[in-house]
Amino acid sequence: MQIVNPDTRLSKAHVYRDLKGQLAALFAGERNGLANAANMSALLFRTLPDLNWVGFYFLQGGELVLGPFQGKVACVRIAVGQGVCGTAAKRRETVVVPDVHAFPGHIACDAASRSEIVVPLVQDGRLLGVLDLDSPELARFDQEDALGLNAAVDLLLQNSELSRLVD
Ligand code: SME
Repeated sequence: MQIVNPDTRLSKAHVYRDLKGQLAALFAGERNGLANAANMSALLFRTLPDLNWVGFYFLQGGELVLGPFQGKVACVRIAVGQGVCGTAAKRRETVVVPDVHAFPGHIACDAASRSEIVVPLVQDGRLLGVLDLDSPELARFDQEDALGLNAAVDLLLQNSELSRLVD
């Protein structure tokens, strides 16, 4: 008789451990920042459950400009300090928003989004941009996601030449 485990979901720790391995393999031998950011957004979108948008914004001319992403079309330019992305960029801190409707100034790109996490890209004290993930579920992201995504961003920063995406 086959034993069926009703809990088919892997733990977040397991998912982020796998993700790190896959990112390391993806970045091995490739330092092109655009290519690595594009592949990372695709991998995150396919690997993490309950997402409707994943992507990057890079700092160009003092504002955040849309980079590689997966999901519906999104706003192209976000001022530093504006919305969740701009807040994470200004504070240079990961921002977890359990309910986007309760976040003053949230920028609604996809009406389906209910919660969000934004991780800043900071290298040698310099802000390069942000990684943004949106979910249609309330409170989808927690400290475990923050840790896992910061580790993923660190891998991208260590293995990619991102300076050409930033000015
Ligand atoms: N919601 C973000 C804007 C970017 S989109 O979600 C892709 C914000 O408030 O900064």
